[in-house]
Amino acid sequence: KSNPLFLEMQTLFCSTDGRNCPLMFVMRLFELQPELIVHFHYHSVPFSSVQECLTSTEFTEHIRKVMTVIDAAVQSLDALPSLEEYLISLGKKHHAIGIPLESFNTVGESLLFALESGLGDVFTSDTHDAWSGLYAIVVSTMSRGWGK
Ligand code: HEM
Repeated sequence: KSNPLFLEMQTLFCSTDGRNCPLMFVMRLFELQPELIVHFHYHSVPFSSVQECLTSTEFTEHIRKVMTVIDAAVQSLDALPSLEEYLISLGKKHHAIGIPLESFNTVGESLLFALESGLGDVFTSDTHDAWSGLYAIVVSTMSRGWGK
């Protein structure tokens, strides 16, 4: 069973309606850390603009992947250690691709910004705290894959 708020978050991220969550996310991400764009490349060619990045299926698919991982963590709140091995290996994978560890903070901040803008009143300060607390657990577990 999926948490309704997370379903709403995922729907927001997968839609390109008026609230345009992926756009908010990507604009914020590259506003905070423009150099991150070089890490999102597929078929070995880096994107040359934010527009190009945003309109690529691979990039929007990756946002969906991030949300799926967070959702899995929400589903396993009572049994987070069951996700531990997966998260460590996910971290290891990102380390191998050359992603700087600190960039995960920028991703978290941008996701929160986009969700807050898209969800409006539904996104209370409690939601904010619960979400950022959970995201922090996910990335700190992923960070254990660094250097492994
Ligand atoms: C895979 C980049 C952060 C979850 C990938 C790939 C790239 C990438 C290039 C491989 C291609 C693909 O599957 O799309 C990045 C960058 C990040 C970042 C640049 C930060 C700036 C995250 C975070 C999460 C995440 C925070 C989850 C909380 C995933 C997943 C995959 C993936 C689930 C697929 C792994 C697999 O195929 O086994 N990422 N990522 N990523 N990423 Fe990230």
